[in-house]
Amino acid sequence: MSSLRIEGVGKSFGELEVLRDLELTVDQGEFAAVIGPSGSGKSTLFNLVSGLDHPTSGRVLVEDAPASVESGKVAYMPQKDLLFPWRTVLDNTALGLEAQGMRKKEARARADALFADFGLDGFQKAYPSQLSGGMRQRAALLRTVVLERPVLLLDEPFGALDSLTRTDMQLWLADMWQRHRWTVVLVTHDIREAVLLADTVHVLSPRPATVVERIDVPLPRPRGAADFTAPEFAATERRVLETLRGTTAVKAA
Ligand SMILES: Nc1ncnc2c1ncn2[C@@H]1O[C@H](COP(=O)(O)OP(=O)(O)OP(=O)(O)O)[C@@H](O)[C@H]1O
Ligand SMILES: [Mg+2]
Repeated sequence: MSSLRIEGVGKSFGELEVLRDLELTVDQGEFAAVIGPSGSGKSTLFNLVSGLDHPTSGRVLVEDAPASVESGKVAYMPQKDLLFPWRTVLDNTALGLEAQGMRKKEARARADALFADFGLDGFQKAYPSQLSGGMRQRAALLRTVVLERPVLLLDEPFGALDSLTRTDMQLWLADMWQRHRWTVVLVTHDIREAVLLADTVHVLSPRPATVVERIDVPLPRPRGAADFTAPEFAATERRVLETLRGTTAVKAA
């Protein structure tokens, strides 16, 4: 069964056509990366998958049912995921569970159980301002993952981090995925990040965005730092880059 099926989706905001005839399928346990130019419609696409907004044409199916917020099937980490500064880290990470009606004590216990895995143990009672940038992103990710929804949407989760921290976070996420096998769709501008983490890389054209190519990443699992220097890694990076460049060149012509 596909966890996510996007079929011929179009989306316009008034005169502005953002998505056109977009097709994307993600199987259960697959890690998919979506890469495309800024402003092409990636966040818009996530809003459709999470059910926050609706397509102008086509269908978005999550586990074979139309996407909706009420179905509770999608956990979405938005591009700017802010932790509430007045809540402790533990209370921040339990927030999503509480919002869906779980009692505070149980919500906290569930979130707390993930702190060690997320490298946050000992910071339960800290406030977000006391965390590093990488830790804040891991806390935001924990808050999303703890919901245990069938599909995880991550919109540029490491976009704001310096490159060293970013690499650490990518390797950490590769390891976490290996253990949990979530179904993930990751939006990123970072080709290296996409190739390290994903099974499939979906390259978008500029607006109106469509998937111009789906590239399978041939690297075996588990993956780690050694993969960065593998010949297949460089070859896949090159292919993604060439596809991305091709789409921009065609559109600009
Ligand atoms: N609610 C809205 N109303 C009108 N226009 C919108 C709305 N949401 C997005 N847009 C427009 O749709 C286009 C795509 O925006 P979107 O945020 O999806 O791009 P993106 O690919 O996520 O960009 P980035 O990589 O910079 O995050 C932009 O031109 C944006 O102005
Ligand atoms: Mg965006």
